[in-house]
Amino acid sequence: MNFLIKKGEGLKGEITVPGDKSISHRSIILSSLAEGTSRITGLLEGEDCLATIEVFREMGIKIHNDDGVYYIEGKGLKGLESPDKTLDFGNSGTSVRLCSGILSAQNFKTILTGDISLSSRPMQRIVEPLSAMGANISSAEGGTLPLEIYPVDKLNSVKYSLPVASAQVKSCIMLAGLFAEGKTEIEESAVTRNHTENMFQEFNIPIEINNSNNVKNIVLRKVDLIKPANLNICGDFSSAAFFIVAALISPNSELLIKNVGINETRIGLLHALRHMGANIELKNQLDSIEPTADILVKTSNLKAINLNTKLVANMIDEMPVFFIAAALAEGKTLVKDAKELRTKESDRLQAMADALKSFGVNFDLKDDGIAIYGLGSKGTFNSTDIDSYGDHRIAMASAIGSLRCDTEVNVLDCLNVNTSYPNFLETCKDIGIDIQNYE
Ligand code: S3P
Repeated sequence: MNFLIKKGEGLKGEITVPGDKSISHRSIILSSLAEGTSRITGLLEGEDCLATIEVFREMGIKIHNDDGVYYIEGKGLKGLESPDKTLDFGNSGTSVRLCSGILSAQNFKTILTGDISLSSRPMQRIVEPLSAMGANISSAEGGTLPLEIYPVDKLNSVKYSLPVASAQVKSCIMLAGLFAEGKTEIEESAVTRNHTENMFQEFNIPIEINNSNNVKNIVLRKVDLIKPANLNICGDFSSAAFFIVAALISPNSELLIKNVGINETRIGLLHALRHMGANIELKNQLDSIEPTADILVKTSNLKAINLNTKLVANMIDEMPVFFIAAALAEGKTLVKDAKELRTKESDRLQAMADALKSFGVNFDLKDDGIAIYGLGSKGTFNSTDIDSYGDHRIAMASAIGSLRCDTEVNVLDCLNVNTSYPNFLETCKDIGIDIQNYE
C-alpha cells in the first residue's frame, strides 16, 4: 500500500489520536496475569497490540471487545496455558521483549517469532539478563528471533545495570522479576519511558524507585497475586507527534489534539520543538498516573538546534518526524548519540537519510547521528517517491513532510502504518490533508 500526498496548508480542526501503544501492551500483559477481569478503554487497536492480544488468547486468556471496551479475564500469575503453536509477535518489538520476561517463568515451552523486520532486530539485550536470572532462553544465531524458552525450576533475582537506554529491556526484567526469588534491582542511567513502573502502581504491585547521582534504581520482589484494574488509556504522544509537526510546517494551520499522554519520559520532542521556536500550548492538563493534555499547535518558523543528547531516549520514536521539522528549520540541526535508531523497525537513521535525500535536503550522516541542513521556513521539498522500508514511522513522517513539497509525493510501502495508527488517513483527511492510498 502506498500514499499519494499533495502539498498542504491551512490544517485546521480538533482531533484525537489512537491509544498509547506502550501503555496498551502493558495493559494487556498485566491484565492477563491478574486474577479476575480487567476493563480497558482507549486500547490501541493497531496490529502490534492485536498481536499481543492473540498471544495471550493462545495461552488461554479470554479477551473480548464490547464496542471498544476491552475485557480481559486474567487467570493469575500461574494461569497461562501452554500454547498449541509458535507465538507470533508480528512487527512488535515491545511485545516480544516484554512477554519474554513472563514466558521465562512459565512451566511450558514457547517459541517466539515475528515478521521479517522483527526477525532482524536484536534480542541478545533481553536474552542476556534473563539468562542471568536463570531463564533457559536462546535466540537464533546472530541474537535474533526465533527465541526458544524452556521451563526452569525457578527464576533468581538479579541486579542489572541497563547497558542500553531501553524501556523494553527494563520492562522485560521487571516482568520476570514478578516471578523471581528475592529482590530484583535495575539501574537505569539514561531515563527511558516509565510506563511499566506506572502500570505496576495501577495494579497495586509494590515497587521502590530511588534516584541518586542521576541513576534511577528500581527494586521489586516476587508477587503472589495481581488484582484486576480498570484502565483508561490516553492518546499516544508518538502518534500526535506527526500532527504536531504537520501543523508547525504547514502555513496558516491551527490544530488541537485532544487527550494526549504527556508523560515526561515521552515528550522530548515537545521540548526540542519549543527550543526551535514552535508555538505549542498544553491545555486542560490532568495530572494522574499518566498525565494528559490537549495540545494546541500553530504554524511556526523553526530554528535549528543542537539536540540535547539527554532528550534522545525520550523522543526515540519521534526522531523521524523530528528530522522533517529539522529539514524545514533555519540552519543546521545536530543529532548525536542516537545509534539506537538503527535497531528499530528499520534502520531509521539510514531510512530518514534516504528520505531527506529524495526530498532534496543536505545532511551529514554519522554512525550515531546526523547533521541536517534545514531549508528554512520558505523552503520546499522535491516532489518525489519515498521508500518507507515498510516502517510505519518512516511512512508517516514522510507523508507529513510531503505537505511542504512542490506538488505531490508518493510514499511507498506504507501498510505497516496499521501497526500503530490504523486510522492515520482518516485523521489526515479530517484536518484537510490531501492524501490517498493506492495499491
Ligand atoms: C517502547 C520502548 C522503546 C520504543 C518502542 C516502545 C516500549 O523501545 O522505541 O516503540 O513500549 O517500551 P526501546 O526500549 O527498545 O528503546
